[in-house]
Amino acid sequence: MKQSEFKKRRKLLLQQIGPNNIALIGSASTRTRNRDVDYPFRQDSDFYYLTGFNEPDSLAVFIPGREQGEYILFCREFDEKKALWEGAHAGLEGATEHYAADDSFPIDDLDEILPGLLENKHKVFYPMGRDSDLDHSLLEWINHLRSQSRTGVVAPGELVSLEHILHEMRLFKSPAELKLMRHAAEVSAHGHVKAMQICKPGLYEYQIEAELIYHFGQNGLRCVAYPSIVAAGKNACTLHYTENADKLKSGDLLLIDAGAECDHYAADITRTIPVTGRFSEPQKQLYQLVLDAQAAAIGQIRPGMSWLAAHEAAVEVLTSGMVTLGLLKGKVKKLIKDEKYKQFYMHRTGHWLGMDVHDVGEYKVDQEWRLLEPGMVLTVEPGLYIPADCKTVDEKWRGIGIRIEDDVLVTDTGHEILTSAVPKAIADIEALMQAA
Ligand code: GLY
Ligand code: MN
Ligand code: MN
Repeated sequence: MKQSEFKKRRKLLLQQIGPNNIALIGSASTRTRNRDVDYPFRQDSDFYYLTGFNEPDSLAVFIPGREQGEYILFCREFDEKKALWEGAHAGLEGATEHYAADDSFPIDDLDEILPGLLENKHKVFYPMGRDSDLDHSLLEWINHLRSQSRTGVVAPGELVSLEHILHEMRLFKSPAELKLMRHAAEVSAHGHVKAMQICKPGLYEYQIEAELIYHFGQNGLRCVAYPSIVAAGKNACTLHYTENADKLKSGDLLLIDAGAECDHYAADITRTIPVTGRFSEPQKQLYQLVLDAQAAAIGQIRPGMSWLAAHEAAVEVLTSGMVTLGLLKGKVKKLIKDEKYKQFYMHRTGHWLGMDVHDVGEYKVDQEWRLLEPGMVLTVEPGLYIPADCKTVDEKWRGIGIRIEDDVLVTDTGHEILTSAVPKAIADIEALMQAA
């Protein structure tokens, strides 16, 4: 992502913060895995969105109209020994030279410098309640200023959630963001194709997971956007199954929910395939129903449609299909009203997608489901999950879990499916698997 993109975002943020106010946002921290080993570092999405700065122990400050510069970055000072052991880090000079900060200060001097920056500001925008250290420090800095009130110093009087402004910005993807999302989607889709091609009875779930990660990594995408779900047979009925330890059995379905991350942008794809490459009749019937529900949901995606419309369309198709197949008994309308479908379809049909797999952005505005607008990206992922011990349905349906998930961009005229490179029609999946 080019620096100019981050600059544009900061400009927009500064405009919205307004004069006499200030905004703060901290980076993610490193976390110890054991002794000298850390968990892989993943920058905080909000922080990265505004700075493009990929280091821990940093804090960005935005002060509209500040004469010496509106964007200040606190970060680690350059340390030669650290550079030798851990590799490059920007240091104070790098922060201004390469990351376009107007000013940079050592993070160790935060307590000395920050109160001065807060002086006489009215509102402090920051991610409230997300980082207890920052919450605590902010109150300390404000108290410090209050204690000086007799000298004429005025402490900020209002703390405001930064997320409201920032997440509204993040909800609408720019062309530069869409380029990364398209790449994440494409590589992930091809990973799913590879998984379909190697799938056969006797392999283990973790081997399918390894194939996906291998493919992502071979294409330069070293991070998954979330832990991959590779769930054979009844494991697919556990929505967030991640053990990925069981053997694939002939006659079972395999649900794969996996996506790569490209420069902090996620893909999120689910496909459900027959382990042998051929669906059984009952599997076909349930699968086609989920696929029809997905098509109906995707059909609701265009500017001006309610966020809820896709979910309602999926629920309608699934419920009516479940009645036809004998999984539910009663009138479709009443089953929907009484939420009886939730026995087998217990999650929502999608979520916003972006830097976070379950991305930020309000789903309701003024207590109404919001209307779709160009630039939003969402998943469409209906499913059916029939528990193995469900005594109320015919035995042939039991232990089947199916989900089909694609990533969809709302365009000016309708939508674009970003993940269409991976097949999902029954005949196409069977053909691909059998040709392998
Ligand atoms: N992979 C998580 C989800 O589909 O929401
Ligand atoms: Mn999803
Ligand atoms: Mn998913």
